[in-house]
Amino acid sequence: MTALADRPATAPIIDIAKIRRDFPVLNEKVRDKKLAYFDNGATTQKPLTVIYAMQRFYAAENANIHRGVHFLSQQATFAYERARGRIGQFVNAAENAEIIFVRGTTEAINLVAQSYGRRHIGAGDEIVVSHIEHHSNIVPWQMLAEEKGATVKVAPIDETGEFLFDEFEKLLSERSKIVAITHASNSLGTILPIKEIAAKAHEHGAVVVVDGAQGVPHLPVDVQDLDCDFYAFSGHKIFGPTGVGVLYGKKALLQDMPPWEGGGSMIERVSFAGTTYAPPPMRFEAGTPHIAGGIGLEAAIDYVNSIGRENIAAYEKDLTTYAHEALQEIPGLRLIGTARNKVAVVSFTLGEIHPHDIGTILDTEGIAVRAGHHCAQPTMQFFQVPATVRASLAFYNTRDEIDALVRALHKANEVFQ
Ligand code: ALA
Repeated sequence: MTALADRPATAPIIDIAKIRRDFPVLNEKVRDKKLAYFDNGATTQKPLTVIYAMQRFYAAENANIHRGVHFLSQQATFAYERARGRIGQFVNAAENAEIIFVRGTTEAINLVAQSYGRRHIGAGDEIVVSHIEHHSNIVPWQMLAEEKGATVKVAPIDETGEFLFDEFEKLLSERSKIVAITHASNSLGTILPIKEIAAKAHEHGAVVVVDGAQGVPHLPVDVQDLDCDFYAFSGHKIFGPTGVGVLYGKKALLQDMPPWEGGGSMIERVSFAGTTYAPPPMRFEAGTPHIAGGIGLEAAIDYVNSIGRENIAAYEKDLTTYAHEALQEIPGLRLIGTARNKVAVVSFTLGEIHPHDIGTILDTEGIAVRAGHHCAQPTMQFFQVPATVRASLAFYNTRDEIDALVRALHKANEVFQ
């Protein structure tokens, strides 16, 4: 293998210096050190275009949507619906009506569980998840299963964190009604073969719900090509604001789903004799939404498009390989999650040092990671660790920052020797 120092620099597929200028926080110092932000799995930083889009909305265009005859309200409605359309194009939805604004991935999955799930799941039915789901794609299904007398089945992984497709297939039967699966594991980075999973699930008549929280920021997503039935993601993990997210659903399924929350905007007509509901997406958007959030998310998507999703994936793949190779040289370091096909998530433990202690030492060096169970306790149980340190990368991270991480980990080894 080529020595690390001799490896050629990343091909200049993206203009990293310009990108880093676009994200003001990346140029901040923390604890008097240059910030190296590796907690993108938790939330990503925001480019100026997103910050300005939201500032402009609040400073000059603020109004409520879908209910005003006045100019500003019409403008705000136009901007919000334009954002819906842009998001639809981004994931290649067949129609804008298939894009529902929610608060984030968690709410999107709960919406499917509570609306689709409560209507279609009964006693004896089965919901299949994988072993490497985030709690958000486990707990809503456990709650539904408990209420309905259904069962949650778990598709296993191997010791590298790879999804075992053949074992998954064996779990499927006519009892399988929902397959709820992550596009990419937040704690390990493993990418799951969603298209193949969906095809197999459909053979058995199950619908497929994809947790795309860690997929969308790293991978091109085409919901029609994947042929998933639902795809959920969060704005803040793709360089947009917190408090806004997306549920994509196939129109035929959404049309047949009851509302989840009741209130303004989601109705056709209300009287004390009874209420009729608006068609999707409005049926699922009760109350005033996060309007600035939708507009900010559109700006984030435009930003990602301006770099190019293929470019992002290629750059991050290179950076992840570099990080794996560099970290493996550290005595006592165990990489957790080494699947062949993975997004830019690098989880590890270091000897007997508790991940929280490592996180604290890294913090003193200006390096931000997440240390803990990453809301994926079953994954930690599989690897028999209470927690890991997770460096989750984005396209604005650099090899220099990885080198700083490696130096800090050597230091942690010295401190705890
Ligand atoms: N789901 C987020 C993470 O993985 C919070 O860190």
